[in-house]
Amino acid sequence: MEVNILCIGAGYVGGPGMAVLAQKCPHCRVTVVDIDAKRIAAWNSDSLPIYEPGLEEIVLQTRGRNLFFSTAIERGIRENDIIFVSVNAPTKTFGVGAGMAADLHYWEKTARQILKHSQSPKIVIEKSTLPVKTALAMERILKGVGSGINFEVLSNPEFMAEGTAIKDLEYPERVLIGSRETESGLKARDTLVEIYLTWVPREKILTSNIWSSELSKLVANAFLAQRISSINAISALCEKTEADVGEVAKAVGMDSRIGPKFLQASVGFGGSCFKKDILNLVYLCRHYSLEEVAAYWESVVRINEYQQERFILNMLQAMFNTLSGKKICLLGFAFKANTGDTRESPAIFIARRLLEEKAEIVISDPHALTNARCDMEGVEGRISYEGNPYDALRGCHAIAVLTEWEQYRSLDFQNIFEGMVKPAFIFDGRNILDHQRCFDIGFNVYPVGKPPLTHF
Ligand code: UDX
Ligand code: UDX
Repeated sequence: MEVNILCIGAGYVGGPGMAVLAQKCPHCRVTVVDIDAKRIAAWNSDSLPIYEPGLEEIVLQTRGRNLFFSTAIERGIRENDIIFVSVNAPTKTFGVGAGMAADLHYWEKTARQILKHSQSPKIVIEKSTLPVKTALAMERILKGVGSGINFEVLSNPEFMAEGTAIKDLEYPERVLIGSRETESGLKARDTLVEIYLTWVPREKILTSNIWSSELSKLVANAFLAQRISSINAISALCEKTEADVGEVAKAVGMDSRIGPKFLQASVGFGGSCFKKDILNLVYLCRHYSLEEVAAYWESVVRINEYQQERFILNMLQAMFNTLSGKKICLLGFAFKANTGDTRESPAIFIARRLLEEKAEIVISDPHALTNARCDMEGVEGRISYEGNPYDALRGCHAIAVLTEWEQYRSLDFQNIFEGMVKPAFIFDGRNILDHQRCFDIGFNVYPVGKPPLTHF
């Protein structure tokens, strides 16, 4: 039996998620719709709107077979009984909760659209990360007017990370499905479980009540971000005490109760999720008058901001307290390696702060220059963009490594050093370079959370 599936929102979650679903379930006909016609056109072209290793191959295999990209949202709603919703819910920029709460107006609009165009029962699945109780608002909109059509709302948060999205989607550590514990709620849940069982082992499919599912996603992201802020906080202490944060992380992480992952000190975490989701959690806690809990989680975001500002202060101090007129190359602009995504990338903050200090910046990245240009649009200052790192670095005073692209490890730093202004500096915001070697070549090297190697 063919299963007809719709996904509203063709972004970083909807696009790869549905491509893998279509690949794994040839018996499903998957349509992905979006209000953004340009994005849909890109999904239908040779140049996909997002860069993600392995994605293109899957889209080429499935597109036109059982995967379709379209702008026909209303028809999509009419013709499909299972509807994933992965439209974005950014942080509110206005009114009550500005800068903290999730802006749910796309969600509400989508719920109303589903209600208006449905002629048969639907299972509506929240795929995006949302505040707890969003499903209740969805239900109230869908069921409130007594249309006579049955709607079941499920929560099925997506845990994949960018850069490894395809692997995460093909072999998920868990798939979480939250539902109402009513007869129709459980039936809808089982329908979705059946779809995942096509490629996910049963023991990895977790079911829960709908609020636990919504909250688990926020909490998972908050815990991950908290580990990064914890190690970054310690990196500041390491810089004062000659301890090495890499050695500390290794020693700490070998305790199986703690584990080694997500302890990589850095210039700070970025991405569309961590900050937004923690602020969401903080807002929820405040809403329920849990001030201490809110303050605890808010500190994770504060440490992340502190870490980025500290990076700038370290640069300033090392470069004789002035960056004015100096040319600095940002090696990497994406928020992490293997993606072209720059949302909330620490590089945006660093770039702006360097320009405030009147430095000239050269931005280099293998996949994120188009997004970098958008991010920096309208920002005053001397900015240039250069894909080739060797060209980018010629004539620079300093290198700031902001993304952990694998190819940066094996650059010819001898050659680079020769083309730079002396004294030449490296600020390794990801601790990926061979610091001793760079120092031996002649660079003054400033890692995160380790003693600097300088020739002064
Ligand atoms: C991200 C996060 O990953 C997710 O967890 C969070 O909850 C929302 O933001 P992502 O897929 O990365 O999701 O977002 P984005 O790439 O912005 O995609 C959302 C898509 O929805 C966009 O293409 C946008 O045009 C579309 N959209 C938005 C609609 O189709 N209809 C709307 O009403 C609003
Ligand atoms: C995150 C979650 O990992 C994923 O489960 C969820 O579905 C969406 O949010 P993502 O933001 O795509 O995924 O990437 P992630 O690998 O978590 O990295 C987030 C940021 O933290 C990046 O800027 C990364 O460079 C940084 N990071 C990560 C560190 O600074 N140190 C680390 O040890 C790990």
